[in-house]
Order: sequence, then structure tokens, then C-alpha cells
Amino acid sequence: MQSISLSSDDSRQQLSDMLSWQARHTGLGLAAYFYQSNRVYQHELERLIFNSWICAGHVSQIPKAGDYFLFDIDSESIIIARDAQQQVHALLNNCRHRGSRVCTEPSGHRKSLVCPYHGWVYELDGRLKSARQMDMLSQFDQQSFGLKKAQLEIHHGLIFINCDPSAPSLASDVAAIQTPLAAHELDNCKVAAVRNYSVDANWKLAVENYLECYHCATAHRSYAKMHTIKDLEVNVAEEQAKLEARCEARTGVPGIAQLHYKVYCHSNHPGGGTECSRYALYPGFVTGSKDGQALAPLLGKLKDYDGGLADFQFGPLSFLIVYPDHGVLYRFVPRGQNLTDMTLWWLVRGEAEEGKDYELGKLTWLWEKTTQEDKTIITHNSEGVNSRFYQPGPYHPEFEYACLDFVAWYLNQMQTTAGEPHVQ
Ligand code: FES
Ligand SMILES: [Fe+2]
Repeated sequence: MQSISLSSDDSRQQLSDMLSWQARHTGLGLAAYFYQSNRVYQHELERLIFNSWICAGHVSQIPKAGDYFLFDIDSESIIIARDAQQQVHALLNNCRHRGSRVCTEPSGHRKSLVCPYHGWVYELDGRLKSARQMDMLSQFDQQSFGLKKAQLEIHHGLIFINCDPSAPSLASDVAAIQTPLAAHELDNCKVAAVRNYSVDANWKLAVENYLECYHCATAHRSYAKMHTIKDLEVNVAEEQAKLEARCEARTGVPGIAQLHYKVYCHSNHPGGGTECSRYALYPGFVTGSKDGQALAPLLGKLKDYDGGLADFQFGPLSFLIVYPDHGVLYRFVPRGQNLTDMTLWWLVRGEAEEGKDYELGKLTWLWEKTTQEDKTIITHNSEGVNSRFYQPGPYHPEFEYACLDFVAWYLNQMQTTAGEPHVQ
């Protein structure tokens, strides 16, 4: 869908006025303007999206030298490729001749990357290998026409990219949650399934929806039956205390219930940050399955099910839920002002075999269902906030605390950067 401005007044002054209005109304949802203005959207791309760490996928998607897949953000395309030395690169998919997309298939295997327009050939690390007959151009410096790169870091098998060359590393943020994250040995996992759900809504509506479970009891009946996070802390304190008392002994992982919250306003840098927590499933459920029973072999170092699951966040847009026997990686990226990709990866032990160790339909059942339900409610939310009659109401102080943090972070970033667009 094209980015279109729905707002009749889309001036810089309007942006500045609306940021001031929103800052004076702490505790309220964002005004319609922030979902409708194309100026706002362009600003967000420059200052919140293309300078954030975003999960591109998992290393098992490109196991061999020459494997690649594309990762699209807004109208941009990034090639995630593995070279002959097993190094993984994030290459901007714009030919250095006249700008054509170099890779046009969403994934594949190539010895080198050949631009389909005039045939320039690139190595898998982005270096320009040959440029047909360009030797006729005096002083053509082949070395200076490699594909541009985004920053890329791999942590626990998860591939993260950042399009801002000056963005600080995500490494120290990930190191802060090392204990619970490493226990699952995600680098030895494989992707059992990956699915993309496009939703006709602004990216902030999709992220805000993920950040709160106020809606879980009403929109996700199956999910709410098994996850205590759907209720207020005081109502599930007993289940949580029991989990915390048993989880280390059951899983065999000291520190598995580490609590860490340094995202959004609490992050050391705005495009990074991590979060982790462990919370209880209701009695009768050992994992996120329809019947409460195990779905796949236990992950990593875990010795047994403890009736809990891990919740992680990386940067502003990437999330990970890890049950003892599988993980669900969840990422949101804008594809237009009113179009968002919600992408999910299901992770299981690397050696697990479909049909023998797990059944794919059972594995994906819960989060396919939950995501379809989310898609529906986010679409309705989008229709509502684009109505002429919409007025933002108050967030719930406990259920929607992460939305409050998200909005505060958002306003900070937009406020400090309300001037001219960033030029690279
Ligand atoms: S645009 Fe790629 S070779 Fe010309
Ligand atoms: Fe939801």
C-alpha cells in the first residue's frame, strides 16, 4: 500500500505542536495525527526505524555459503548473505551502477550476486567483482563500487541489522540477558516454520498491541487459558511465586528467571535495549500447546519443563517467547504508513525431525491462531484511530505499562529530532 498523507495539515509546525500536545497529555494514547501524517511516518523511518537494531532472522535460514534471503523494511530491501568464509553480511539491495535491485527472489543460493539490469557482478561480501566493459571509463575504481552495507551482529543465532553505521553495538544489551538466553542454545536451533502476516495498520498499532496483554482475555481465549500474563500480577502472584521457587531446580539453569527491563526509555541507547522475564503457565500446561502437553524436544541445557516460559525483547521491534521446547521469534516492521509486516519464526532444536520429534501443525497452532486474532483486532484499531471521531483514551497503568514506556520513548525520539530529515 502506498504511503499517503491522510492529514490535511502536514507541516513541520503541526508536528511540533502535536508533539507538545502529546507531551502535555501523559498517560493517553497517541493522537490520530501520529497515525495519519506522512511527515510523521517519514520522520519515524529516519529516526526510529533505520537507526534501530532489528532482527532479520536466524542463522539456520542460510546454513551454506552462498545462501541468502531478503529482508524488507518500508520500501527498502536488504540482502542477508553468507559468504565463502561463512561470514554473514547485510548488503543494501541497490546496484552501484544505476540502482537496480540486485537480488529479486526473496531467498536463494548464489555463487555471486549478478545485477539483472546490466550484469554487474558482486561477491557475497558485497565487493564488486566485475563490471561489464566499464574499463572503457578511465579511472573506474572498481573497489569503490561495492554494495553498501548495514551493520550486522549475530547473537545466539539471531541475526540483527542496523542501517545506521554509527549506531552503538547491541552486544552489551544482549550480554545483560546472557544467562536465561544462553540456556536455550538458540544458535543450535533451526527454523521449523516462518510466516509473515501483513496487517493494514500503522506499525505503532501493531507494536503497541504486542506490548500489552490487556486484550488477551477478550481477544485470545486459547492463549489466555494458558498464560498467566493475561491477568493482573496480584491475581497470579501465587502461580508466579511457585514458578520462581521451582524453575531453577526443574530446568537445571541457575538464574533462568532473571528479570531485566532496559528497553525504550530505559535503554542505554534508543535503537537498542533488551528485556527478559519468566512467567508462569497455568497448571496443566507445560508449553504453548492445545492440550498442554510437550510439543518438541527440550531446548538447550533445559533438563525438564517447569511450567514457565521466557519472554525477551531486543531493540524496539523484535521479540522472542521461549517455551522449554520451542521458541517463537516475533518482529514488526513498517512496509508503508498504513501497512505492517508481522513476521514469526518457530524455532526447535537443530536435530529435531518434523513428523518424528514434532508435528508442525501442533507446533504452530497457538501463535498462528493468536496472530490471526491480533491481525483482526489491530485492523479494527486502525479503522478506529483513522476515524474523524477518534479521541485517545487512557492506558491501563499495569496492563499497558510497556505502551506508556513505548510512547514516552517515541515522543523523546521524535521531539529531539523534529527538525530537518537526517541525510546519510
Ligand atoms: S543497474 Fe545494475 S548493472 Fe546496471
Ligand atoms: Fe495479542
